[in-house]
Amino acid sequence: MSTNINNNGLPNIDDLQHLANELFKTLPNEFPKEISLSPDKAEHPRATKIAETILQTGKIGALDQIPLAAPSNLQPTQHSFSGFGASPTVSNYENTEAFALPPNAGAGFDPKDEKSSSGVQENHDLNMDDPHTGFHDINLNNENSQLNEKSAFPSLSLNNQYLPFQTENSSFEIELQAALAFVDTQFKKREDFPLNGNETTTSYYFLEQNPFAFDRKSTNIAVGNSFDGKEINLIKGHHFNAELVKKDFPILRETVNGKPLVWFDNAATTQKPQSVIDRIAYFYEHENSNIHRAAHELAARASDAYEAAREKVKTFLNASSVNEIVFVRGATEGINLVASTWGDQNLNSGDEIIVSNLEHHANIVPWKRLADKKGLKLRVIPVDDDGQILLDEYAKLLNPRTRLVAFTQVSNALGTVTPAKKIVEMAHAAGAKVLIDGAQSVSHMKVDVQHLNPDWLVFSGHKLFGPTGIGALYGKEDLLNEMQPYQSGGNMIQDVTFEEIKYHKAPNRFEAGTGNIADAIGLGAAIDYVTKLGIEAIGQYEHYLLEYATNLLKQIPGVRLIGTAKDKASVLSFNLQGYSNDQVGQALNKEGVAVRTGHHCAQPILRRMGVETTVRPSLAFYNTTQDVDTFIKTLWELKKVRF
Ligand code: ALA
Repeated sequence: MSTNINNNGLPNIDDLQHLANELFKTLPNEFPKEISLSPDKAEHPRATKIAETILQTGKIGALDQIPLAAPSNLQPTQHSFSGFGASPTVSNYENTEAFALPPNAGAGFDPKDEKSSSGVQENHDLNMDDPHTGFHDINLNNENSQLNEKSAFPSLSLNNQYLPFQTENSSFEIELQAALAFVDTQFKKREDFPLNGNETTTSYYFLEQNPFAFDRKSTNIAVGNSFDGKEINLIKGHHFNAELVKKDFPILRETVNGKPLVWFDNAATTQKPQSVIDRIAYFYEHENSNIHRAAHELAARASDAYEAAREKVKTFLNASSVNEIVFVRGATEGINLVASTWGDQNLNSGDEIIVSNLEHHANIVPWKRLADKKGLKLRVIPVDDDGQILLDEYAKLLNPRTRLVAFTQVSNALGTVTPAKKIVEMAHAAGAKVLIDGAQSVSHMKVDVQHLNPDWLVFSGHKLFGPTGIGALYGKEDLLNEMQPYQSGGNMIQDVTFEEIKYHKAPNRFEAGTGNIADAIGLGAAIDYVTKLGIEAIGQYEHYLLEYATNLLKQIPGVRLIGTAKDKASVLSFNLQGYSNDQVGQALNKEGVAVRTGHHCAQPILRRMGVETTVRPSLAFYNTTQDVDTFIKTLWELKKVRF
């Protein structure tokens, strides 16, 4: 079919109506089948919203904001109760009332007014000013998960702004894409979304599987103005819509000193999307129970959700098995766990541990303490003046006494990305085990443990847009099962008598007591969020944002950048001549810009670079070039006063 194009370059309303009818006729769960946009006829609510949105905004990207499909019939389901003194299966959810939206599911929402013939809610308008990127918790209806066989939660909503689709594969976007695939429409108003060279006119930005897909080829270098009038290179024209993503993070709507908050302290902790906040609230409202221990409904819900979160971590890291994922408080606890168990068990006087000069104190202090306790030698891989690992020097440190190499994938103080795969290979060739500190890497790049092949890898949830107090230790399964427990008590035992104790295998062997159940589930939601955006797209967007900021920062007289590695992520450590770092931090705070100042718990590397402290802005995917401009402008103002 061909469409008539109106004077703003968009199809006219009749064509839109026709397209919408074609679409909705094909959808099994949609009623009514026929729609009209005329006020005197019955309208299909979603089609109306699509047409209105396109016509009002003139932007195809605005379709991100269309209302989502209602869930289809909610079926009674069953939980099986897994392991650890668990019960047989029980059935539950006798009626759909069990699936009522949480009380805070959206202002003005009244389920009684919104029941379809199938007894479920529909017509859930999104708040157009607050679109969200629509992440439902796949734990609640995960068709692909091993856990589905025993879990089978029906499709639940956490918030009526992003009610889940029946399955991932029948999502509205996919249905719409299929229905429109044959149509030769000519939506050409793409200024906001430049073509990447591979697209045709029937490829829609808003329908791409990942709406934030970012293509390196689509970037271009344009000329802009710096704040003192000189021309500089800016990078713009990217697809990644950080402004839209930012709307998923309620705290980023805060003002500080009357200015919009600019969160540039992401290396210390990241902000949380609404979907993570809602997921944790949902747990406490609907699922709260201890796990693995009881025959009742809520124990099953909580256990299933917790184990589904473990599955998400496993998939995120590409581990071979959920048995390789231990929930811990964070990266620090993960490292301490390995030091106190494997380290204490296996290392003896004269053995050597290698760390790098870049390490956070969390990856120095536990090893130093162990070395002092057991007479081990702690050796340090040096870095060059840019803060890059010297692989030749590392090679010289490796010898038959080397038992462990523990290093960071990204430096929290400088942003250096280390050649992790190479470091692991060299350590293994020397017969040493390897632990990677992934605290600063997992939020910026794909971390694949099968590819990198460390023996252990740790990260913290709160640096991955998840809650504090939760993180994960990845360990190779056989190795974890050889390790003695870290803490002991309930949940980690198979059998206890006064004569003998039998432990569970990993991961439960390392999860004594009641863990941080809600936040593990929140971490799962954060992983869903990051996965939906796409970690590669995130990495590419942040790379360009970092280059943009670095180019501007370097041009300010008196700025010394600390850490100038070729391969960097997120971090811009610097000093500004004439000011203490705290003065710079305070001046930025006056403008609403949050940065960390200090030694960043990485004193050895800062001293290696000749400083005690730095100012450290650190970026994430919800930061924008406008945020960077605010930051740079403030530094220029400071420079004007003192130079
Ligand atoms: N490790 C965190 C930082 O780098 C706290 O700021």
